[in-house]
Amino acid sequence: MADDFPSRLPVPKDWSRRAKIGADAYAMKYRQSVEDPEAFWREELKRISWIKAPSQISDVSWTKDDLHIHWFADGVLNACANCVDRHLPECKDDIAIIWEGDDPADDARITYGQLYDEVRRFANALKAIGVKKGDRVTLYMPMVPEAAYAMLACARIGAVHSVIFGGFSPDSIAGRIEDCQSEFVITADEGVRGGKTIPLKANVDKALEKAKGVKAVLMIRRTGGKVGFTEGRDHWYHDVAKRVDLDCPPEPMEAEDPLFILYTSGSTGKPKGVLHTTGGYMVWASMTHEYVFDYRPGEIYWCTADVGWVTGHTYIVYGPLANGATTVMFEGVPTYPGPDRMWAVVDKHQIEILYTAPTAIRALERFGDEPVKKHSRKSLRLLGTVGEPINPAAWTWYHEVVGEKRCPIVDTWWQTETGGALITPLPGATDLKPGSATTPMFGVKPALVDAEGNFLDGATSGNLVITGSWPGQMRTVYGDHQRFFETYFATYPGLYFTGDGARRDEDGYWWITGRVDDVLNVSGHRLGTAEVESALVSHKDVAEAAVVGFPHDVKGQGIYCFVTLNQGVDGSPELSAELRQHVRQEIGPIATPDAIQFAPGLPKTRSGKIMRRILRKIAENEFDNLGDVTTLADPAVVDDLVANRKNT
Ligand code: WT7
Repeated sequence: MADDFPSRLPVPKDWSRRAKIGADAYAMKYRQSVEDPEAFWREELKRISWIKAPSQISDVSWTKDDLHIHWFADGVLNACANCVDRHLPECKDDIAIIWEGDDPADDARITYGQLYDEVRRFANALKAIGVKKGDRVTLYMPMVPEAAYAMLACARIGAVHSVIFGGFSPDSIAGRIEDCQSEFVITADEGVRGGKTIPLKANVDKALEKAKGVKAVLMIRRTGGKVGFTEGRDHWYHDVAKRVDLDCPPEPMEAEDPLFILYTSGSTGKPKGVLHTTGGYMVWASMTHEYVFDYRPGEIYWCTADVGWVTGHTYIVYGPLANGATTVMFEGVPTYPGPDRMWAVVDKHQIEILYTAPTAIRALERFGDEPVKKHSRKSLRLLGTVGEPINPAAWTWYHEVVGEKRCPIVDTWWQTETGGALITPLPGATDLKPGSATTPMFGVKPALVDAEGNFLDGATSGNLVITGSWPGQMRTVYGDHQRFFETYFATYPGLYFTGDGARRDEDGYWWITGRVDDVLNVSGHRLGTAEVESALVSHKDVAEAAVVGFPHDVKGQGIYCFVTLNQGVDGSPELSAELRQHVRQEIGPIATPDAIQFAPGLPKTRSGKIMRRILRKIAENEFDNLGDVTTLADPAVVDDLVANRKNT
């Protein structure tokens, strides 16, 4: 019932007064950014401290034969120096990182001056174990300040980090290490989340039984728990750190030198190594962080993501630190030790800007208003969301209960591939509509196309494409430039295809409707149906599997698996539990199936293609609307699937 929700909220008066970018400034700057990008970026690139300022702005081609994306190409800079060193003269004693531990009694404050020392020490420790410029370094870390030190230390010496979320399995770690031929791993003995320990080092040990070629593992002590130690390969960070000094000048890097790789799921095959480079990414991270959050130094900003995801890279580490911000790193989960933890942390650290995910908002909303109202939340002035479409009901709860109608909500649409926010309100400029990501960021030109690639005008729905490059765009799929082309530029020649569907309304506002490919979004985590299928068929009893998403109240999407067993094997609740466990082991807990339905056969076309459309309808419980099944090789399988649907 859309009537229950406000349809349009004007910019609050205090915001239009104080914001750096008001409605007129947005319109003017946006126009300039797309009509005269040279002039626009020549000004914006000044937010970064360059060792050699770029004279070139962009050189981009999205064609099959010559796919390249270059921004600020003749510039030289260091990302770490931009996040740390350059703030020292004026902000040495300002807080860079507030760390909030899993246990509410654990916290720490790290000034920019301390960060400078910690990062240089870490960088020299990396050198001491053999890391050199250009090397890939895999990070598998808990949410502790050392995770940020390690990322920045890599950037300082020109090594390329590849952070893997701590919820991924040993097999997933091994695959990612092998894919980028990483020879170094940084981890911790154990992580702590929600009162439970996570065996990070043990997972790395298991991964390294598979992935050969790792020369050194550097281990932080987090819990002091007992862990394996392989002489000659493993090093305790505190031992190495004792032996190094603090002198570590930042390595001059070309703008297009790689900064990091981050693996993300696609509609086919294994996760891809999304590669971001230095100059364009830093300009984009800094610019979007400043404008989207209307950020001014001194304000306390909390992005609740994990550094294992792109949100953590851009909006916990690189964006905020480039802007001299105070960024909060939270080790725990929103519901531990109680369902009021987020609001307790807001009061404790006097958070002014809170950036979180719809799935967290929906999960907390289920506990009612009382846990929220127990805490004052007076410090809050801006709220943000990211990761998946936010339903108007959750938006309204966030706005009315959490923000007491006082705080605008910036619903930021973007992707691992885009480096930072592409479609988002600016709090002082944009009237809000619950559920809409609203308007494009400077320099971003979204458009809608139909299945054939024809542009669609006016208020309508279609496939979301971006018609020109922006500095934060990914540069390639690591080691597979062909796949980069195939995935993003082959569907609609000359356009970047996002994989999302969207609607543009009569005011030109953008509403993201979700993925139109075989990518799932489970609690804001991206998973390929193909990955889950390949995990299932790797089990000895499974002949074939097809995985689809279905609407889930808290997670956004749940995972529904249709599984055909080998001849002679019978489906049972025990086997179902075993398969769930198997997928967790192969990929990680985020991929745990919500429902497994044993199916004697899957609906296929006569040429053998699985008809996912039909499976999706069954998982969504929409039997009346299965569409044309007459092209199926054996229409009878559908009746069996419908009769045996699992409750979700
Ligand atoms: C996919 C990208 C962006 C960093 C976190 C996720 C979905 C993301 C929104 C939003 C609607 C959103 C899209 C996108 N998505 N933000 N505000 N509204 N959908 O990054 O793992 O690369 O996933 O997340 O479907 O394609 P990611």
